[in-house]
Amino acid sequence: MTAAPVTVVSHPLVQHKLSLMRDRQTPTAEFRRLLREIALLLGYEVTRHLPIALRRIETPIQPMAAPFIEGKKLVVVPILRAGLGLAEGLLDLVPSARVGHIGLYRDPKTLEAVEYFCKLPDDIAERQAIVTDPMLATAHSAIAALHVMKRKGCRRLQFLALLAAPEGIAAFTAAHPDVPVTVAAIDERLNDHAYIIPGLGDAGDRLFGTK
Ligand code: PRP
Ligand code: URA
Repeated sequence: MTAAPVTVVSHPLVQHKLSLMRDRQTPTAEFRRLLREIALLLGYEVTRHLPIALRRIETPIQPMAAPFIEGKKLVVVPILRAGLGLAEGLLDLVPSARVGHIGLYRDPKTLEAVEYFCKLPDDIAERQAIVTDPMLATAHSAIAALHVMKRKGCRRLQFLALLAAPEGIAAFTAAHPDVPVTVAAIDERLNDHAYIIPGLGDAGDRLFGTK
């Protein structure tokens, strides 16, 4: 099987906003706003293959079969907490999408992902899902989240992140070769504490101002 693509969205607007987010001086409110704005731009890429259905409408001139997104088929699934920031931008683009939540935190000692919450739409197996988390470091969290989605029967999956480490990309694509990944940048590597460098620090803490 050919592995699903890893897409890096190198658009100047995305890179500019990401640089502002990386800056340690950027305050919480601006960090949150920038993440939402980048999500809109990444969302353009990640929704590129959404199914379209034709519907009859009438323009002021004449009837036509017009293309519409089958919005009801989409579910956005943020990994708590930081995935919420990306999910909000996607929902600005596709307001009718359903939302599921998977709560995971990374144990600071073992670096394993610990699940503490999961609430997904009942018809998740029939939906196309975009799982969001800004940081793909070791990829333990993303790999665990995608296993949850597959256990629930979901087969049409994508993963959307802001920043990834090469180690995280390698681990994720080995575990879920069928799942396309979209990111704004792939950084240098992980440091000794498995933080992405140069990175932007702890995404959840910066997004919610908890440290
Ligand atoms: C962060 C981040 C990812 C995870 C990435 O979450 O938002 O979920 O770490 O690391 P990994 O790829 O090595 O698993 P964290 O565990 O800090 O939880 P939080 O979002 O609640 O702050
Ligand atoms: N989680 C984060 O929030 N940032 C990192 O660099 C790694 C994991």
